Order: sequence, then structure tokens, then C-alpha cells
Amino acid sequence: MVKILITESLQPEAIDIFRQEGWEVDLLRDLGEPLDAVIDRYDALIIRSGTRLTADLLERARRLRVIGRPGAGVDNVDLDAATRRGILVMNTPGQNSIAAAEHTIALILAALRHLYPACHHLKNHQWDRKAFMGSELADKTVGVVGLGRIGREVARRLMAFRARVIAYDPYVPVSVARDLGVELVPFEELLARSDIITLHAPKTEETKNLVNRDAMSRMKKGMILVNCARGDLIDEEALLEALEAGRIEAAALDVFREEPPRDWRLIDHPRVVATPHLGGATREAQVKVGMEIARQVRDYLKSGLIRNAVNFPSIPEVDRERVLSAMRLAYILGQLGGYLSDFRIQRIEVHFYGSIARHMVQPYVAAAVAGVLRPSIGRGVNWVNALSLAEGRQLMIHEIRHHETHVYEWMIELHVFDEHEDLSLAGTVVSPGYKRLVSIRSAFLDVPLSEHMVFIRNDDIPGVIGEVGRCMAEAGINIAYFSLARVESTGQAIGVMGVDSPVPAAVIERIRSRPYIRFVRSVTLELNPPTEPVEEDE
Ligand code: NAI
Ligand code: 3PG
Repeated sequence: MVKILITESLQPEAIDIFRQEGWEVDLLRDLGEPLDAVIDRYDALIIRSGTRLTADLLERARRLRVIGRPGAGVDNVDLDAATRRGILVMNTPGQNSIAAAEHTIALILAALRHLYPACHHLKNHQWDRKAFMGSELADKTVGVVGLGRIGREVARRLMAFRARVIAYDPYVPVSVARDLGVELVPFEELLARSDIITLHAPKTEETKNLVNRDAMSRMKKGMILVNCARGDLIDEEALLEALEAGRIEAAALDVFREEPPRDWRLIDHPRVVATPHLGGATREAQVKVGMEIARQVRDYLKSGLIRNAVNFPSIPEVDRERVLSAMRLAYILGQLGGYLSDFRIQRIEVHFYGSIARHMVQPYVAAAVAGVLRPSIGRGVNWVNALSLAEGRQLMIHEIRHHETHVYEWMIELHVFDEHEDLSLAGTVVSPGYKRLVSIRSAFLDVPLSEHMVFIRNDDIPGVIGEVGRCMAEAGINIAYFSLARVESTGQAIGVMGVDSPVPAAVIERIRSRPYIRFVRSVTLELNPPTEPVEEDE
């Protein structure tokens, strides 16, 4: 039975999505045990920003297949470790952008109009109107750092206040800023020109301490700093000093380096307005992120469909069946490549012909590589970690798109190379679920791909089919299909058989002993998506 653990909170309607599948859902707070003691029991974790998933913790998560993050930031998950272990990490981009953008505007206005101290003052039954003279947002220059989903929503709202918006984001296309009416500027210029700076970049190696002492020294005197992204973007010690020195007039903070904080000096500062990480905390956003993540996690666990993963390309909803069946084909071709090669594999090429070459091909490449590695790694490899495992083995991976059609409307051709040999296999899917092997070692054939198969290379002489058939029949093995293909100008042929049950080694040995047999191998293929839990090698 699929088991889901919710480490913080999730909307009840979202939890129901899992329960409707008959899955078991536990809330960490009800278990009375710490996460590290229970993490190995679950197929999926639903976390929020308060759950830190380190490499050590993920190491214990033996059956974990997917981490769902109802929200944006995934900086609390060791993504490399998750990917190495084949654990998919999904978030819900955009679903809490409005909430975070509105909260940012609230923080900016609160800082400009001294809302918190003024309210506190009045609640103490005092009335001093001169003490809280504010400033207007209109005509101020606001620097947005990170012009992504939230940064853009913030920019739009700021413009409604008639603020001038400039932005720093090294990755956003210039056209995005132009369409918004926002001027993209270098970071230095943003620091020097902004009356207010608001941070909306994710926490990455690059953004950690982005707003450090040096950056603060380049800011306009008397500016306001707003952070509704992640605490680590700011050097909090330097901010405290800049506030003390009056270089920064005020700070409005929703996020902190340590949450909940143990050092309260910044929060206690009279010119700091602060909230306890509430940017995404609206009912509307929580319903959206909760429902979305529950659906995404359910679909992945049920059918391998991948949406909004941060460590694997998404599979577009409209093409879901086509993409998944092509991924399964690539995975099966990969397994054949792994089982049929005799030597240490050095390079894998995945060629795409026809219509498939026009699509995003990374999922197929990952699936093919997962298949190639499956015989040597066992259940420890899946689509998510295949490329990372291949890199660890210094395997070279190439994807090659050919825009011409090759008999079939589309075709995937896999080449598995060692230093001596290039083993090639090609396949296509003619209708959903109907996967065909259409060439092997450049010999054309057309056979179904089924669970138990036998591959033969033999001298191209009469009587081979009869003799091999007899060996199988005497062992009680039923042959579902048998196809022979001639390998041009070698005098050899390749035989491919589908059989109803695994073929015992003694039968293979008997076939191999025939003088005209050059190669024989039986394989048992895994036909379903490799989204099983990552466990020890078989
Ligand atoms: P997003 O991915 O749509 O946008 C992030 C933007 O930052 C992208 O345009 C990216 O190009 C830019 N960026 C990346 N590195 C940068 C760098 N070095 N300098 C400047 N810009 C850089 O993400 P979204 O949804 O806008 O969220 C942004 C962040 O806000 C999240 O990663 C999360 O940490 C935080 N967040 C906080 C919330 C809260 O409750 N306070 C709520 C939601 C998000
Ligand atoms: C996010 O990254 O989506 C926000 O920081 C929200 O985090 P939360 O789910 O812990 O409120």
C-alpha cells in the first residue's frame, strides 16, 4: 500500500485526494516520533519550508519515490542527494505568487507608513500623529531582485502605485521585462538607484548573501529593504549595522536565516517590520498549492506522470500518453541494450527520427539510460537518477535528432558502445501500449517487445528456426513469436523470440552448443515505468 507522510500541514481536501486512492496518510505531528525515525516507511513526503531534507535523512528514505512541496522554494531539500537516489522533487510554481506578491506590497506599505509602530502606539492609548510621518510609494524607484513569477506580480502592483520599477535578474529574457514596462539593470545599478529594494530570487549558491555588507554600502542612504524570498539572501548582521547607522532606513522582513529565529535582535529593531514567513499563507494559496501538489504526487505514483518536478523535465499534460509510452519504449530498449552488450559500456547514443525529434527529448534519454543501467544497478536506478548515475560512471550520453522519417512515423534508436562494438536497437510505438522492436544491429524486423525474450545470432542457413523451436518445446517453453532478420553481407541472421516464461540457463546452453549459433541470450524485461521505490540492488 502506498504510504504518504505529511511533515507539516496540508489542506484537508488535498489529503482526501490521497485517501480516495485508498492510500495511507500519516501526519508527522501525530506519530510522536521524529522524521528520521519514520522516513523509511513512506513512498511520498509532503513538506513545507520548515522541513529540512538533508542527504543523511534522504539516505534513510529507502522507499521514498517523491517529495511534494506545496509552494515554491525547494532550498530546504538536498536536490542532488534526492536526484542521486531517484527521488522526484515537485513544487507548485505560481500557485502562491499572488499571496507572496500581496504580502510584499503590504510589507512595503507597512514600512513606508510605520503601520506596526503606529498601531502599537495607538493600542497603548497614545495619540502622537507627528511621530509617524510616512512616505509615498508613488514616484519612488523600486528595485526588484528576481523578476520571476512573484517578482513580476510585485512589479505590476508597484506600477499601479505609480512607482518606477527597475529589476535585476540575470536569467529572465529581456522581452519579459520589456513587456512589463520594467527596466532591467545590473545589480550595482539597482543598488545605487533604488529607494526600495525587494527580493524575489530563490536561495541558491549564487544568491546566498547577495545583499551583503558591500552591497549595503552601495545602496542609497535612507532606503528600505524588503525580503519576502529567503533569509539567506541577506547578511543579517550587516543589515543590523546598516539600520543602526541609518544607511538603511527600514527593513520589512518575512523570512530569516534561521526559522524560527533564535537571535531576535533584528526583529526587535524599532525600524524593522517583520512577519513569521507568511508570504504564502493565504487560504486561497494554500488550497491551490495543496490541491496541485496532491494531484501531481498522485499522478506520479499512479502512472509515472511528471509535472513541475525540479529535478526532471515535466511531461506535458496534453501529450501524457504519447510521452509516457515513448519513455517506456526507451526504457525497454535501454534494458535490451544493457542485457545484450557484453562489454563495459562507454557511450550511449539515443537517436530520434521523425515526429518525436521535434519534441523535448530529455525524458526519453533519461528513460533509455535508466534502462541501460537497470541490468547492472537493479532497482536503484529510475528515470530521475539515471543521468546522475551515468555521470558517476563517466558514461558519455548523446542525444541526436534526425528530422527525416525512417519508415515509421517516429522511431527511437539506441546505440550502446564499448571500445569495440556498437550495439544498436530501434523501436517505435504503433498504437498506445503496442511497442515494437524494429531493428537490431541494423537488421530490420518488426516484433512486439514483451517480458521474456530470447535473442540469437546465427549463421544464415536453413533449419535454425526448427532446431531452436525444438529445444524450447522440449523444455515446455511456449513461443509467442519468432522473427528472423538477415544482417546484410555478413552471412548471419538475428533471431528474436517472445516466450511465455523465463528460459532456464540449461536451455540457453543447449541452443548455444549448436555450431551455427554465434550468440544467444534470454532476457526478462521490466515493462512498467521504473517509479518503484529505490532499494538495495537486487
Ligand atoms: P520563480 O522561479 O518564478 O522566480 C525566481 C526568479 O529569480 C527567476 O526569474 C530567476 O531568474 C531569478 N533569479 C535566479 N537567480 C537569481 C540571481 N542570482 N539574481 C537575481 N535573480 C535571480 O520563483 P517565484 O515563484 O517567483 O519565487 C521566488 C522565491 O520566493 C522562491 O524561491 C521562494 O524562496 C520565495 N517565496 C517565498 C514565499 C514566502 O512565503 N515568503 C512564498 C513563495 C515564494
Ligand atoms: C514558498 O517557498 O512557497 C514559501 O516560502 C511558502 O513556504 P511555506 O509553505 O512554508 O509557507
